[in-house]
Amino acid sequence: MLRYLPVRRIHARQILDSRGNPAVEAEVTVGEGVVGIDGYTARAMVPSGASTGKFEAVELRDGDETRYLGSGVENAVVNVNTRLAEAVLGENALNQRLIDRLLLQADGTENKSNIGANAILGVSMAVAKAAAMALRIPLYQYLGGCHTGRLPVPMMNILNGGRHADNTVDLQEFMIMPAGVCCFSEGIRACAEIYQHLKRILKERNLSTAVGDEGGFAPDLADSKDVLDLIVQAIRTAGYEPGADVVIAVDAAASELYDSERGVYYFPGESRMKGEEIYRDYKEMIDYYESLIEEYPIVSIEDGLEEDDWEGWKTMTEHLGGRIQLVGDDLFVTNIRRLSCGIRLHAANAILVKVNQIGTLSEAMDAVEMAQKAGYRAVISHRSGETEDSFIADLAVATGAGQIKAGAPCRSERNAKYNQLLRINEELGDLAVYENPFSL
Ligand code: PGA
Ligand code: ZN
Repeated sequence: MLRYLPVRRIHARQILDSRGNPAVEAEVTVGEGVVGIDGYTARAMVPSGASTGKFEAVELRDGDETRYLGSGVENAVVNVNTRLAEAVLGENALNQRLIDRLLLQADGTENKSNIGANAILGVSMAVAKAAAMALRIPLYQYLGGCHTGRLPVPMMNILNGGRHADNTVDLQEFMIMPAGVCCFSEGIRACAEIYQHLKRILKERNLSTAVGDEGGFAPDLADSKDVLDLIVQAIRTAGYEPGADVVIAVDAAASELYDSERGVYYFPGESRMKGEEIYRDYKEMIDYYESLIEEYPIVSIEDGLEEDDWEGWKTMTEHLGGRIQLVGDDLFVTNIRRLSCGIRLHAANAILVKVNQIGTLSEAMDAVEMAQKAGYRAVISHRSGETEDSFIADLAVATGAGQIKAGAPCRSERNAKYNQLLRINEELGDLAVYENPFSL
């Protein structure tokens, strides 16, 4: 029985992400030199956000304006090759918790600002991948065990706004979820067809079909209702029933709209399109969401309020939590401390899980587990700055989270995740489980 699989080599390099910004890629070799075991090398790439929460673990950037406008990650790369290598070389790659603890100890800070969460996460993910390779089992099975088989319902962001596009749409993401179709592959088909129909509709109306950071379209539209009307039309034209086959999710990314001096949310795009200044306080935000839910088949709202407003979140959850999923992204930042606070207060009823918000695989998996135990749902998520690494696809199946948010069915760094899920779906065959998370 294979019990000890030593980490033999660690090497990082600077690569580019989907926005053309530097990112950390880590390579880990395990097993080499052990009698009877081949060496295996795996690599992992680290994503990066734009509307980052202020409580996220620190992403180390060089800040040297003469190179990549300050966004280089050469220091993080050096940290992997020196301090993190020193911390885990010779250690057992089959013990992910131990590896992650050693990485955390090497950093020694609460928010990973010393070595950088981007450096740490690259090693954490690459170790897991290499271990799975050495065991010759798929990554989702290594991470999730013999019982894994639930494919996530995709949340596909087909219309981008906020920080992810230069248009006038203020809420950051409008997503479709094929929650009512029979299986994962039919869900992918539904989303891809709706996406193409939306493109046609936009063209017919002389609206832009250029795409934002997550592959969704980014036309100038006056307000959320215009966006939702177009999406509902696209769902119908594609031959699906809004609210039955396909439902809608929104990420408001409200921390980005929040004006902390005035204590209100400012809608710059809507203001520009309507020629008047549009502000909403937290109660008006909740009313606003309520009106949207009443009119459209919206089942999930993420970051409806800003990341510091626990009281507002409590109120919003009291009002809307019985009817829809309320997802904490910037609110929880994949951090079990913040999540346990939310659970205690009954703030939100779901967590967005982004591995780079917290910086190790073990901590991200702990967050999913804590959520599931408390009856909160978990949504595994990409970042707006992504790579071709499809790690989160396997993680979504491994955790049985039931939902994955990975952008539009467009641009290969987004489709890398969906395509990996198609492979897993095929491999599981009729053992694959695909369930509507909202009817459970
Ligand atoms: P980010 O956005 O990756 O730019 O932070 C994604 C999100 O807010 O969910
Ligand atoms: Zn978000």
